Amino acid sequence: MKILILPGDGIGPEIIAQATRVLDVLRSDGLKVETETAPLGGAAYDQYGAPYPQVTQDLARAADAVLLGAVGGPQYDTLDRPLRPERGLLAIRKDLNLFANLRPAILYPELANASTLKPEVVSGLDILIVRELTGDIYFGQPRGVHVNEAGEREGFNTMRYSESEIRRIAHVAFKAAQKRQKKLCSVDKANVLETTEFWKEIVTDVAKEYPDVALSHMYVDNAAMQLVRNPKQFDVMVTGNIFGDILSDEASMLTGSIGMLPSASLDQNNKGMYEPSHGSAPDIAGKNLANPLATILSLAMLLRYSGNNEAAAVRVENAVKAVLAQGYRTGDIFEAGTNKVSCSEMGDAVVAAL
Ligand code: NAD
Ligand code: IPM
Ligand code: MN
Repeated sequence: MKILILPGDGIGPEIIAQATRVLDVLRSDGLKVETETAPLGGAAYDQYGAPYPQVTQDLARAADAVLLGAVGGPQYDTLDRPLRPERGLLAIRKDLNLFANLRPAILYPELANASTLKPEVVSGLDILIVRELTGDIYFGQPRGVHVNEAGEREGFNTMRYSESEIRRIAHVAFKAAQKRQKKLCSVDKANVLETTEFWKEIVTDVAKEYPDVALSHMYVDNAAMQLVRNPKQFDVMVTGNIFGDILSDEASMLTGSIGMLPSASLDQNNKGMYEPSHGSAPDIAGKNLANPLATILSLAMLLRYSGNNEAAAVRVENAVKAVLAQGYRTGDIFEAGTNKVSCSEMGDAVVAAL
């Protein structure tokens, strides 16, 4: 398997360094992987003047899987929009056709008290958020800022979804639900937005092919509320790009910290990019404070989905469970009575557990 590693910006290189150490252990035990490293985001802009340069694109297309840290930082926020790190991330997702973003929010029992919610609300939590990743208001045209008929400046973006885009993500979500508790909740704003009323209609039609899955629908505002009121009512949730972005950050706090939520972004053939759901955390970058576990768990997802190597994935996930059971905690999941460690010390612990 060929893996392209994109450290990115901010805490990206720090968390990727720990995931790479995990990969090295697997390799020394016989896992066959070749790795390349390339820049994405601000790092790519600094080196090549573009957030998704040709060299990165060529390597990404040739790879079986991509492992990404995170991109972005305040020093890039005033660049022209096409040059910004976030554009590089959107470009690689679109270029590789990574339309299916899986974000599993699982609470490890040891972190029941790290969540800001009551332990009884979150204990045993296991939700899969299926977020459509290459459509919606993120990519819809027209977009921009112009002077309107009244002579006033006006910003505009366009929410749009084609039938085929909705159908393919719905199939991913129904198939995932079939392998789990067979419950799928489709999240929309059909009471206001035509695009998402259409989404609801198509998901309902796809449901006919999955009679064993119980489909429900929920408005996104209610879903945001239900996620903190009673998150365990959910099994799989499927939604569009922007609602999924927001709901998955919200769901991360049910697991203790955004530093715990991995993700897989897949195409039709399980080629994928794997990244933590969080960003480049400029406030703690360069301080060896970041939690590398979401990135290490993203590597486990890479091994499972693109590597088709369930045993290696489970081995990595078990090592993460072991370090949590041993009491190792980065600052974001620290509580009294546990052992506060740095990013690299957390990596040491995972390597030892492996
Ligand atoms: P963020 O996720 O980077 O940070 C939000 C908060 O969570 C911060 O307080 C941060 O310190 C904390 N945090 C995040 N990851 C952590 C970790 N692993 N360990 C401990 N604490 C962690 O979100 P933001 O501050 O809104 O965005 C910062 C930059 O990251 C922006 O430029 C944004 O565009 C970018 N971003 C990138 C991605 C990505 O690359 N996939 C995702 C989200 C945001
Ligand atoms: C994420 C991020 C990205 C998104 C940004 C950085 C473009 O928030 O991966 O969740 O909105 O998809
Ligand atoms: Mn996000």
